[in-house]
Amino acid sequence: MMNRRILVTGGAGFIGSHVVRLFVSKYSNYHIYNLDKLTYAGNLENLKDIENKDNYTFIKGDIRDAKFIEDLFSEYQFDAVIHLAAESHVDRSILDPLIFLETNIMGTVNLLNACKVSWKDDSGRNLFYHVSTDEVYGTLGDEGFFVEATSYDPQSPYSASKASSDHFVRAYGNTYGLPYVISNCSNNYGPNQFPEKLIPLVIQNALNQKPIPVYGDGKYTRDWLWVKDHALAIDTIFHSKKVNETYNIGGFNEWQNIDIIKLICGIIDKQIGRDDKSSEKLITFIKDRPGHDRRYAIDSTKVKRELGWSPSLTFEEGIEKTINWYLGNTQWLKNVTSGEYQKYYERQYQ
Ligand code: NAD
Ligand code: DAU
Repeated sequence: MMNRRILVTGGAGFIGSHVVRLFVSKYSNYHIYNLDKLTYAGNLENLKDIENKDNYTFIKGDIRDAKFIEDLFSEYQFDAVIHLAAESHVDRSILDPLIFLETNIMGTVNLLNACKVSWKDDSGRNLFYHVSTDEVYGTLGDEGFFVEATSYDPQSPYSASKASSDHFVRAYGNTYGLPYVISNCSNNYGPNQFPEKLIPLVIQNALNQKPIPVYGDGKYTRDWLWVKDHALAIDTIFHSKKVNETYNIGGFNEWQNIDIIKLICGIIDKQIGRDDKSSEKLITFIKDRPGHDRRYAIDSTKVKRELGWSPSLTFEEGIEKTINWYLGNTQWLKNVTSGEYQKYYERQYQ
């Protein structure tokens, strides 16, 4: 297998850290450069176990800074990019949309421009892998699934910014011949997820016996995927030699929010020896998220049929592993929830 210099953006975040660890550990002939601004969501603690590996370099920097990105490409001559850096939380995009445009759209275009200038050969080693979301497709009713050909219909500032970045990636492929792949994934869960997102927020609040906020009627539906299976899907697609293709990634694993919350409460009560159903009493129905998408469900048949990827873990196994990880890493939780998180939490759930 050829040597490659791969830029991973957002590698200190939730999904990015699992992708970086997988590539650094599995491919000793690759050098992985992890570019991350270390926003509130980026955390080098996520990568402590691999930070001293010879084939890994961390670079602190901002994808919104075009000159910095251009210079970085001149200095390191990256062969490929796996682009995960983004503002990723829907509720924050409702509070402050502008940073989502700057990071998710302009940041992506800065990277695309740098690749366009830097990649001159067509030896097949260059690839811009854009990590996107199923939210670009909008919302489903009770029936049906998102397929790769589903029209884009984003509903939140976050999903609109991700949809726009997907369009730019395809436009650079179409106009300048930039080799790309895009994958659109459903909701991830697992270790190291920042506790603004539903699953770690429920775990954290249940542990601390704080109210567990449920938006609207709690019957909104998401399709949940174990984060390490997403990283493996990215690995599979990255190495597939497919270019200018799109793949949907999902778990065929739909849950209504209220059911998942009750499941988590039950596991926590059991694990820490609380009375049966005591955490459920913390469930508090609150005002709905504006523009809340009712249901997401991904059809990931294409990636299974063409590339042989499918999830490795059942949800029951994955959620138990996730809860155990948070129970064993209470200091991690404390560290990430001090400071900025408290201000955000008050503003969001006042
Ligand atoms: P995250 O918020 O946990 O991590 C994002 C990372 O990007 C952080 O490390 C942050 O410091 C970094 N970052 C933010 N702005 C930056 C900037 N201007 N310059 C450099 N780095 C910057 O996000 P995540 O949940 O790991 O999501 C990663 C990617 O996957 C995103 O593109 C997201 O849209 C996509 N995605 C997420 C999910 C999910 O369920 N979490 C599902 C599908 C797709
Ligand atoms: O589908 C993929 C997307 O999944 C990713 O692109 C996003 O980056 C990721 O944040 C996630 O978006 P969601 O909006 O689906 O995830 P979140 O964890 O914020 O919410 C999941 C569901 O739980 C959603 O229906 C809203 C609800 N919810 C969320 C929070 C934070 C609550 O009821 N209460 C809450 O406090």
